[in-house]
Amino acid sequence: MMIAVIDNVNFMDRQVILRLDLNTPMHDDKITDVTRIERVIPTLRKILATNPRYVVIFSHLGRPKSKSPAEFNAEDSLLPVADALQSLLGKDVIFSNKPVGPELKELLDSTPNGSVVMAENIRFYSGEKNNDIDFSQTLASLGDIFVNDAFSCSHRSHSSIVGITNYLPSFAGLSFKAEIMALEEFLENPKRPVMGIVAGSKVSTKIDLLLSLLNKLDYLFLGGGIANTLLCAMGYKVGSSLVENDRIGVAETILQKAKSSRCKLILPTDAVVAKQLTPNTTTQVVDIDKIALDQAIYDIGPKTLEQLKNTLKKCGTILLNGPVGVYEVSPFADGTIEIIKEISGLTKAGCIRSVIGGGDTLAAISMSKTNEFKPEFSHISTAGGAFLEWLEGKSLPGIEALTIHDPIKKKVSHY
Ligand code: 3PG
Repeated sequence: MMIAVIDNVNFMDRQVILRLDLNTPMHDDKITDVTRIERVIPTLRKILATNPRYVVIFSHLGRPKSKSPAEFNAEDSLLPVADALQSLLGKDVIFSNKPVGPELKELLDSTPNGSVVMAENIRFYSGEKNNDIDFSQTLASLGDIFVNDAFSCSHRSHSSIVGITNYLPSFAGLSFKAEIMALEEFLENPKRPVMGIVAGSKVSTKIDLLLSLLNKLDYLFLGGGIANTLLCAMGYKVGSSLVENDRIGVAETILQKAKSSRCKLILPTDAVVAKQLTPNTTTQVVDIDKIALDQAIYDIGPKTLEQLKNTLKKCGTILLNGPVGVYEVSPFADGTIEIIKEISGLTKAGCIRSVIGGGDTLAAISMSKTNEFKPEFSHISTAGGAFLEWLEGKSLPGIEALTIHDPIKKKVSHY
C-alpha cells in the first residue's frame, strides 16, 4: 500500500488543515491521559519547521449528538485540550469557536504567520458525521493543503477524514504513518510464532477480529467476558460471571473455527472469583470447573498465568488487546499487570516484537507504571475501533482516502 505522507512536503506559506484525534479521556473537565496529544507533537513541529502561513487543527471529542454548534454542549468542548496542546507544544495555540466557514476563515487570515489555531469540536456538525459534500468543501476552503494525523479515526467516513481529501492535496502525518507501518509489519511480516491475547467484556464486539486472528496467529489466548462466553459454550458452569447468553452460537462458531485452524486457542483453566465486585471483597482461586453458582470470574488464576507466560516465551511477536480481568478493581488487576510486565520484559530483552492497542489496555499500562517498572513495547497504538478493524482486515475509509492509486489525481506529483 502506498499512502501520501508528509515526509518531503514543504509547507512554506501554506494554509495547513490538520486533522488530529485529540479525543482524550477526561474527568471533571481535566484530561486524564495526554498520550494522544504527545503523539502528534512531532507532526506539528515538522509542519511548523517549514514556515506555514498557518495551521488550523480539527479534532473531535466524544460523540456529541448535536447537528450544529448552536446545540453546543460545554462538556464536549475542546478548549481544555487546546490548553494542554499549547503546554506540550510550547507555542501559543489560538482556540476558536467560530463556525466552520467564512467567519473562521476571516480569523485565520487575520493571524500572524506561523499561527496554530484549534477549532471547536468538529462533531458538533452533522455535515462532518455524514461526510456531506457541502461541508467537506467548506472545510477544504479553509486551507490549501490537508494533513491527517488521526489514524485512530480511519474507520470513520467523515468529512474531515474522507470528504476533504477530494478537494485538497492530502497527506498522512508522522504518527499515522508509524501506526500503519507497525500494524502492517504485524499482519504481513511477523516473526513467528505469533500470539494474540484478546480480552474484554463482550465477544459480540470482537467476533470478526477473533475469526480473522484465527487465520493469522499461532496462539490465541482469550480472557475476560469473551472467555466466559466461550467456556459456557463448552459446557462449563461459570456461576454469576459476565456471559453473553445470546452469543453462545457465535462462541460455538469460534470454537469450531479454532478446531479447523492451525492456531491453538487457549482459554483460562483457573480463575480468581468473588461474590462481589468490590475492592475489599473476599477472593478465591478455583479451577474453571469448580465455580459456585454465586461466584463470578474477575481475573485469570495463577495456573493460567503460568501457562500464558510459558507460551509467551516461545513467541516472536505478541499482540495484546484488552485486560484479562477487571483491572480497575484492585484485587483483580494482577493477571493484567503480570501479562503487561512479561510482555514488556520480553520486548526489552529483544526477544519479541509487541503490538499493543485498545483504550482499556492503554489505561491498564498507565496503571502498571511505578518507579521500578517502566513498561516498554515495540508499538502502542492509540487507536481503538480503527485498530480492531485494521486487524480484522477491513479496508478503512481514512486510509483509502490517502492511498495513492493515481498520483496525478491525488495531486502529489508536484510536492
Ligand atoms: C477513538 O477514541 O477510538 C477515536 O477517537 C474514534 O472515536 P469514535 O469511535 O467515536 O469515532
